[in-house]
Amino acid sequence: MMLQSAAEAADILKSGGICALPTETVYGLAALASDGEAVARIYETKGRPSFNPLIVHCANLEQAGQVVKLDHCATRQAAAFWPGALTIVLEAQDAPPVASLAAAGLATLAVRVPAHPLMRAVIEAAGAPLVAPSANRSGRLSPTTAAHVEEEFGGSVPVLDGGPCEAGIESTIISLAKSRPTLLRPGAIAARDIEARLGHPLAAPSGGIEAPGMMTSHYAPNAHLRLNAEQAEGDELLLGFGGSPGAAMDLAPDGDLRAAAANLFSMLRELDTKSQPIAVAPIPHDGLGQAINDRLTRAAAPRG
Ligand code: TXA
Ligand code: MG
Repeated sequence: MMLQSAAEAADILKSGGICALPTETVYGLAALASDGEAVARIYETKGRPSFNPLIVHCANLEQAGQVVKLDHCATRQAAAFWPGALTIVLEAQDAPPVASLAAAGLATLAVRVPAHPLMRAVIEAAGAPLVAPSANRSGRLSPTTAAHVEEEFGGSVPVLDGGPCEAGIESTIISLAKSRPTLLRPGAIAARDIEARLGHPLAAPSGGIEAPGMMTSHYAPNAHLRLNAEQAEGDELLLGFGGSPGAAMDLAPDGDLRAAAANLFSMLRELDTKSQPIAVAPIPHDGLGQAINDRLTRAAAPRG
């Protein structure tokens, strides 16, 4: 079912329902953050292991301050990147408007202020923060169009269509709850841009599942995936980059990493409909290439 307006989506959320909403990164499956039962329905609908905590999406810095304890460093990062694709993990407020299930038992919460005008309109109309994991079944490719969401859930989840997502890859997650600012998940904002504001490099996560988007096999298509392929072999379909000869599709014929990120999940999905193995051309590691290679490595990992 397609929703007609932000107001209609907000009404569903306020009456305890869930719906899929567009953001500038990927589509999210949203509920009121404070509604434990609706949060449970998100986990159930995604088939997500319940130890995965959710990102709290806020209308503005003030609302984010009701969810987490914003310190000086967080406020600086927020000023630079919000609204936008930066998620910050911080110590939770004493009584945040967030169901404990959404925090999955952690003392921290992840917050971001999204930029997509429709998402912002829904948060405003709901009058409260929303939790929204990517609107895919657990372990599968994140959706970057309303049609992808329909494919994931067979039309059982109402969707607000906001067009194709601009970034096409999830937000970058940093933790400022640790002794050193740490990169938990590379994403739509290049780590070096965050480091430029921070004045020093981000630490690498110390191991363990700090953000379960970091589970080794994640974002997986059905097809077998081979990375750093110069050309297709056997019945492989080549997902090219920068104009690879013989490519079935090319992430960015002109080599633009931003375009490649925006196309990544939709092209993998498209090739995955052909029931043939997929070979992916080498992607440079600089800038957004870090996030693209991270997602590709997980998509290609042996399935757990
Ligand atoms: O771009 C995005 O971030 C999208 C859109 C919809 O906003 N959302 C998204 O959510 O990617 P999700 O749930 O698919 O991924 C959120 C990641 C998970 O890997 C989760 O473990 C991590 O954020 N996370 C959430 N709260 C955390 C916390 N308190 N500490 C560490 N990691 C956390
Ligand atoms: Mg996800």
